[in-house]
This record gives sequence, structure tokens and C-alpha cells, in this order.
Amino acid sequence: MKRYYNCADFLEISLDVIEQVSQDEDNSYQIICESLGERLKWDYAEVWLRDALNPQLVQSDICYTTDQLTSDFSKVRKHSIFHYDQGLPGLSWRTKEPVWITNLTTEKRFLRQKEAKKAGLKTCLIVPVIAEDYVDGVIMFFSKKSLEENKHIIKLMSLLSSRLGLNIIKNQLSNMLINYEKEADKNIELISKIFSLRDPYTISHEKFVRNLVTDIGQRLNFTHEEIQDLNYAAALHDIGKISIPMEILSKPARLSHEEFQLIKTHVIAGYELIQDLSFSDNVKRMVLEHHEKLDGSGYPFGKIKDEIYLGSQVLAISDIASAMLENRPYRAAHKKLAVIDELNRLANGKFDSKLIELAIEVLAKYDDDYFTSSHGSFMVKN
Ligand SMILES: [Fe+2]
Repeated sequence: MKRYYNCADFLEISLDVIEQVSQDEDNSYQIICESLGERLKWDYAEVWLRDALNPQLVQSDICYTTDQLTSDFSKVRKHSIFHYDQGLPGLSWRTKEPVWITNLTTEKRFLRQKEAKKAGLKTCLIVPVIAEDYVDGVIMFFSKKSLEENKHIIKLMSLLSSRLGLNIIKNQLSNMLINYEKEADKNIELISKIFSLRDPYTISHEKFVRNLVTDIGQRLNFTHEEIQDLNYAAALHDIGKISIPMEILSKPARLSHEEFQLIKTHVIAGYELIQDLSFSDNVKRMVLEHHEKLDGSGYPFGKIKDEIYLGSQVLAISDIASAMLENRPYRAAHKKLAVIDELNRLANGKFDSKLIELAIEVLAKYDDDYFTSSHGSFMVKN
């Protein structure tokens, strides 16, 4: 491995690998393995993937070998699965951080010491690939040289593995959209499930936002397609929050100015995540505009009046009403009357007063009893 890398080296390597991954996202792991194996002069790399059905990491066939010895090593299977915190793959699953092992021969958790010695492997870097908030897989890079921990390489690996994680989410979304027209409801359920892996609050929130936008859309005589788009946007509107640390999203206190600025980035992040997918332009626009307000006080662009799509306003009002009716880490759920008061206040310049009127009409359908506190969330009975 080259002894010293400067920033330009790392930038060049990162851009090169990201470019390759974005051109062939289905083979992200293989590309990362081979490309980084080659560019950073690792001698061997292998991939462990999260089992779709069980909480365990499973050995995959994806690997990078440089000679017969490493090729033989790739066939060694002491264990074909690892559980949380078990062995080196499980360790990286627990820490969610890259782990650098400078001397494999003294590392007790490494089960293949004898075989690694035969292959001449001495150093190992274990990199977890984070998709949303869970570990999707673990890549292990090995070197025949004794290498001291290199913070620059660890940083590069962290950056690339989070980028790879975003691609995984994007692929999951793309796969769901294969049957876009035929199975709209199923797709929405799947999107909600992905969200709930990270944040159990979201499933009830998004479900209620979808109820509200559908009811308001019908009262506005929206077409079937427009209402379906509203549903997609309601399910996707906060998808960009996967880029925000959980400590901030679930902070049981008011956010600092800096933290709020970071939260605001979820809108652009969400738009970028879905911009290449086969949703209609209106869905993408609603995701981008769901925090804009008519008087220009919203974000990310501070758009005003007609610059904001009608559906985006329907979504924004429904999002606010739904959020107020839920328990949050820093406050209890508001009563329906308080929500109606707040919506009336927002009719004063922030949102179209006719839309607010329709939203209040829709909310009237639900008694306070319909919002039953349950594990910090709320249930809608209907
Ligand atoms: Fe949002």
C-alpha cells in the first residue's frame, strides 16, 4: 500500500469509485471491493451481507483476490454466518464504525488465523456499510503488510460506505417502483416499512398524512392520478431524514439553531434521492416543496404564492396537522382543538385559507378518541 496519500489522492479515488458505483449500482459491493482493493493496494477483500430474513451476516461470494494464496483463503469457511458482536464482521456491525486490526495473529476474535498466516495476511480493515440506520453489509480488506492504523483511509472508507448505503436505499426504492402503476398501495407500504426500520414514529405519521391528503385531494376534485401522486409524496416526503443523525431526530429537547439548519437539509436530500426514479415530476416537486409557505418564510427556497404547487401546500398542511397530533420526544400530542387553532393561525398568510378550511373540515371527522397514545405514537381507527 502506498505509504502516504494526500487530499487530492483521496478525492480522486472517492470520485472515481462513486462514479463507478453510480453507473452500476447493482454491483456496488463488487466495485468497492475491486476498485479500493486495487487503488489502495489491499491484497484481499471479502463481503458479508445482512440476511434479509434473520438478524445475521452471511458470507457472500463477492471478493477481491490477488494471487492463488488469497484465492485459497477466500474459500475458507470457519463460520458462514455471524451474529451481532460475533467475530470480526459482528464487531463492526455493533460499532457501526470501521475497525482497523494492525495484527491479525494476536486478534482473538479472528477465527481464521492459521489460514490467514498461510496466505500471508497480517492487517485487516473492517468497514460496515450503513443503509438508513442499519448495517446492510460488512467489507473486510486485508493486507500482507503490517500496517499501522491510517485515519485518512478510515475516513475515506466511512465516506464511501455511507454513499454505498444511500445507493442501497435508492435500489430498494427502484425495485419497488417496477410495478409502479399496478401495485401502488403495496409500494407505499414497502416504503413505509423501510422508514420504520429506522424510526417507528414514521409509520403512523405517514399513514395519517396519506389519509389527510387523500381526503383533502378528493374535496379539491383532484383526479385519480393526482391523488395517487399525493399519496406517494406523503409516503416519501421525509425520506431525506435518513441523512440526519438519529440523535438529532430523536432529541428530547428543543433543537439548537445549527441542529435545525441540519434538519432543513432533509428536503434537498430527499429530492436528490428520488430525482432519478420514475415518480412523476409532481411527486418530486411536492417532496421538495413540503416546507415552503406562501409568505416566503418556508424552506429550502423561500418560494412565495403561486411558485408553490397546490399539492405541496396540501401536503404541508397535512404534515403539520399530523405532527401536532402525535407525541414527540420533547412534547406530548396536542388536542384536536389546539391543532385547529394553529391551522387557523397559519391561514393568515402562510397557507391558502380555502385549503386550511378543507383541512379543518377533514379533521372534524376524527374525534379526539381516534388519537390514542400508543408507545409514543398515535393510532387512527377507521
Ligand atoms: Fe419534512
